[in-house]
Amino acid sequence: MRTDTQTITRLEDYRPPDYLIDTVELDIRLDPAATRIRSVLKIRPNPAGRSGAPLVLDGDELLFHGLAVDGEPAPPDSYEATPEALTLREPPAGPFALTVDTEVNPSANTKLMGLYRSNGVYCTQCEADGFRRISYLLDRPDVLSVYTTRIEAEREEAPVLLGNGNLRETGEVEGTTRHFAVWHDPHPKPAYLFAVVGGDLARTAKTFRTMSGREVEIAVYVEPGKEDRSHYALDALERSMRWDERVFGREYDLDVFNVVAVSDFNMGAMENKGLNIFNDKYVLASPDTATDADYANIEAVIAHEYFHNWTGNRITCRDWFQLCLKEGLTVFRDQEFSSDERSRAVHRIAEVRTLRARQFAEDAGPLAHPVRPTRYREINNFYTATVYEKGAEIVRMLKTLLGDATFARGMERYFERCDGTAATVEDFLDCFAEVSGRDLGHFKRWYEQAGTPTVTVGTAYDPQAGTYRLDFRQETAPTPGQPDKAPLVIPVLLGLVAEDGGRLDCVSNNLREDGLFVLESATDSLSFEGVRSRPVPSLFRGFSAPVRVELDLPDSDLLTLLRHDTDPFNRWQSAQTVALRLLTALARDPSQAPRDEFPDAIGAFLDRSGRHDPAFTAMVLALPGETEIAQEIGRDVDPDAVHAARDRMKAALGHRLGERLRSLRDAFPPEDRYSPDAASAGRRALRNAALDLIAAGDPAGGERLAAEQFERATNMTDRLAALVTLSLIPGEVRETTLARFGELYAAEPLVLDKWFALQAAIPEEGTLARVRELMNHPAFAFSNPNRVRSLIGSFAMANPTQFHREDGAGYALLAEAVLALNGTNPQIAARLLTGFGTWRSMNAPRRAQAQAALERIAGAPNLSPDVLDIVQRSLA
Ligand code: ARG
Ligand code: ZN
Repeated sequence: MRTDTQTITRLEDYRPPDYLIDTVELDIRLDPAATRIRSVLKIRPNPAGRSGAPLVLDGDELLFHGLAVDGEPAPPDSYEATPEALTLREPPAGPFALTVDTEVNPSANTKLMGLYRSNGVYCTQCEADGFRRISYLLDRPDVLSVYTTRIEAEREEAPVLLGNGNLRETGEVEGTTRHFAVWHDPHPKPAYLFAVVGGDLARTAKTFRTMSGREVEIAVYVEPGKEDRSHYALDALERSMRWDERVFGREYDLDVFNVVAVSDFNMGAMENKGLNIFNDKYVLASPDTATDADYANIEAVIAHEYFHNWTGNRITCRDWFQLCLKEGLTVFRDQEFSSDERSRAVHRIAEVRTLRARQFAEDAGPLAHPVRPTRYREINNFYTATVYEKGAEIVRMLKTLLGDATFARGMERYFERCDGTAATVEDFLDCFAEVSGRDLGHFKRWYEQAGTPTVTVGTAYDPQAGTYRLDFRQETAPTPGQPDKAPLVIPVLLGLVAEDGGRLDCVSNNLREDGLFVLESATDSLSFEGVRSRPVPSLFRGFSAPVRVELDLPDSDLLTLLRHDTDPFNRWQSAQTVALRLLTALARDPSQAPRDEFPDAIGAFLDRSGRHDPAFTAMVLALPGETEIAQEIGRDVDPDAVHAARDRMKAALGHRLGERLRSLRDAFPPEDRYSPDAASAGRRALRNAALDLIAAGDPAGGERLAAEQFERATNMTDRLAALVTLSLIPGEVRETTLARFGELYAAEPLVLDKWFALQAAIPEEGTLARVRELMNHPAFAFSNPNRVRSLIGSFAMANPTQFHREDGAGYALLAEAVLALNGTNPQIAARLLTGFGTWRSMNAPRRAQAQAALERIAGAPNLSPDVLDIVQRSLA
């Protein structure tokens, strides 16, 4: 195995750059196969760097055409130009101008990093290190420059030309069929925020008046003909801008804000200054093509990218180890936005479900890493659930610990002090330490220590003395490179609930007024006095810390919480905990029969459900996923047993609650006009959650209901939900309906993605062959990341029984796809490969198969750094 070919970047090796680049002037002549770029850089030595050092500019697969220093062609022996670097051996001692000519081929750029073409539209992706694929530069986030960009193209091919900042000038190139636009961005920024777009695009726009009264043109660009699908994104953008003014006091800082949707995009979207470029699945929405989940995602991603304008762009990162500084904080901000726009409780539950499914899984496997890693071989492999989602949880804990008002002052200080800088996690924490007068040194461990802590809680009630005690113990399992773990600062929001649901008056000397207890050492206790009846503790309300909790409470206590807790998150959580206990027991010992207690408790909950938000009720009806059950089992997992247990439990619920579920559906009949708002979406979610359970308990009846819903549906949410339900019922109806759906949406790639995904997730032996067949479907293409994620990604991530087939055929399929993509799009290849992330927790025969598949990948020739990094860490 090769370990020698890759350089490791280490946090402790950070050095400021030897040179700074004050301005970058670009002249980009777009051409499908030979785009020419002239770049004029105003460079000066960095007082904080080494003086007299050679200037080494980054490049990647660049074709070099020429170099001039202060306008004079550079003598050939004064520099060296390779596709990967441009080195000026002895740069002038003072400020100087460097003019560099390069050429790239956007049509051949299958990595989708740098400048590429998507459906004929020129676009760029520069984070983390894509700018160097356009021109030579100090491509690092702590080099901030003012950019002026002239873009030129054939008018017919690219009537729309967009850049960062404000539009300065447009015109014709005389005597040609070409035209140009000049964009100027006054805000110094790192290269990763650079972007250009050129193409035939349709614009939807409105004027936004900022809090100080400035007018900003905000616009969404999509493929011509899809304008009617851009309105929701534009609306979400406007709401995001308003919200950031109201909640964080952040005003937008340019005259225009453009969002462009492209169909080939490695990630979700990118916060380029004033010119966000999006994966079109996070922009395009119509009732016929997008589900409620799509609408919610669009709202969240639009908000996320917009919020980066302050947390990411105005304040950027010193180096890529600080990625969570912008990503964790911005995820926190977009989660807060969505919670304000929708139901906070329901949103919190959704956040936690994703966190557990993705981040906890990551933390438990070979790819576990701290929220702020200390070394990387390929930074693009660190855009992870840990950096993003756990990063957001850390910010939320900070808010919980400090309280809303102090947290707000800390943010205020951060915006003031760090504006215009490339900052670190320390800079961020310092602001909060100062405004609170607290030492956050211990808290900082959350950024440094990988792994999910387990908090075990014991309870002791003394009825004579009227005392109650909670005993806490925290522990974090070893993760790669971190065998020993230190205790973390864990905020526990809690309350005591009386068994009959009444008030419980009691006192504790160690509890903040809002119910906050802070666990800072390995063990600690919390005592209450004046406790008149046996309490049921409601712990980690609102999921106040990203930990797993082990509780000695009997199921009956948890069901008391489902009924009486004032905290909606814990009402949901307590039902989940009971379900998880039953599911793991059933998976371990399939001879057990599921008891009726749990279905009956859910039935009683449904009888009271008139008092609940339908979206919340739908969440309670959804059993923990197979990934979560597998995590709970922890080792030697048999995914077939996990699946069977969940299936049986679903059937038991459906069977026992069938009548109630049918009348629930009748209580929320489909609405005539589709509206994506949270309340309407919640009603659809409940109706469809009920359908899912009805079908589990009574497949024949469920099939009839689902087929009928499929036919009558007037929106994609209901149609797709019906199809998902049908996909789990083998037979003629399923096959003909699947085929019909495929024909109906043959011209809609984003809809076909849903169709690919749900077929790849069918938990049956035939799925492998089905997936292979779909790989030959005319709409499938390895070159499009959305298609790959939908078909192959969902097979690997959403179909545990088939991906982890005992014969290894599922692993072989993924390995094949990874190797097929390794050369053309290494980022997507590496991302797919993380599907092996839980392999060590599988049972022995599966472990052996997974290891063999990983070793085959590791031994393949010409592995990209991206794939090599993941495969080696997975096997380590
Ligand atoms: N900064 C983007 C976002 O989260 C993600 C871009 C990541 N791109 C990449 N190639 N790693 O909003
Ligand atoms: Zn982001």
